[in-house]
Amino acid sequence: MDAYCDYLQEAVTAARIAGRYQKSRFASTLDIEMKGDKNLVTEVDKESERLIVEHLLSRFPGHDIVAEEGDYPRVGSPCRWIIDPVDGTTNYAHGYPWFCSSIALELDGELVAGVIHNPVYDELFTATKGGGARLNGTPLSVSVRAPLENTLLGTGFPYDCATDPANNFADFIAFQKKARGIRRAGAAALDLAYVAAGRLDGFWELKLKAWDVAAGVLMVREAGGVVTTFDGSPYDIFNDRIVASNGLIHDEMVAMLSPAACGAAK
Ligand code: IPD
Ligand code: CA
Ligand code: CA
Repeated sequence: MDAYCDYLQEAVTAARIAGRYQKSRFASTLDIEMKGDKNLVTEVDKESERLIVEHLLSRFPGHDIVAEEGDYPRVGSPCRWIIDPVDGTTNYAHGYPWFCSSIALELDGELVAGVIHNPVYDELFTATKGGGARLNGTPLSVSVRAPLENTLLGTGFPYDCATDPANNFADFIAFQKKARGIRRAGAAALDLAYVAAGRLDGFWELKLKAWDVAAGVLMVREAGGVVTTFDGSPYDIFNDRIVASNGLIHDEMVAMLSPAACGAAK
């Protein structure tokens, strides 16, 4: 019996509650605010977070919460939920059906459970520490594609890419020249789930937050993949440079992302 199964089940329930709500409001008129030049927040982000947090705290009242849209008092529990209620908000706000919720649990600082739910495709990606990664219950493993020339990669660009030179533009061009293709789909959590599922062979991005990556990092690792920082050193979810891959192309990706690889700011 998986030690983290109860936690995972409640995270799945919370994700499904949020997913039903997100579908019901999709492509409707929304209240939208700006958090920055390009960074939107909609009423659906806020209500999705409320629904997820409400469910988790109803089951685990003493747990800590870190979530994108709210500030929650630190209670000092060894259990901390890390939540992105809508990953892919720009897509959602534009009626582009590519978004998910992402819910992860850390126990004593270690990722032990993760859920990424795409309600439009009805795809539920799950992982528990030592228990593997699954898609709608079916075990997942990363791809076996290599070298880089044969691969499909995912990435994204930070919201401040117009003003900060650390914008991923040079690396995007370099990888586009080398790999078979690159997708910038707009939801980092789904990108990571897709690496776990072998649909993408690798992913890199900078300036992501813990809630963007927490569930996906566990998923990639549990599916047999590798996650590091851009220089190949061990990754933790508060590091803002991430490269995740099937393992086979990891050294090639790190070599291209190392600060020395091209002149651009990283
Ligand atoms: C964003 C998405 C996007 C990534 C951004 C993230 P949000 O999250 O994951 O793919 O490129 O950097 O901030 O704002 O939609 O939750
Ligand atoms: Ca996000
Ligand atoms: Ca979000």
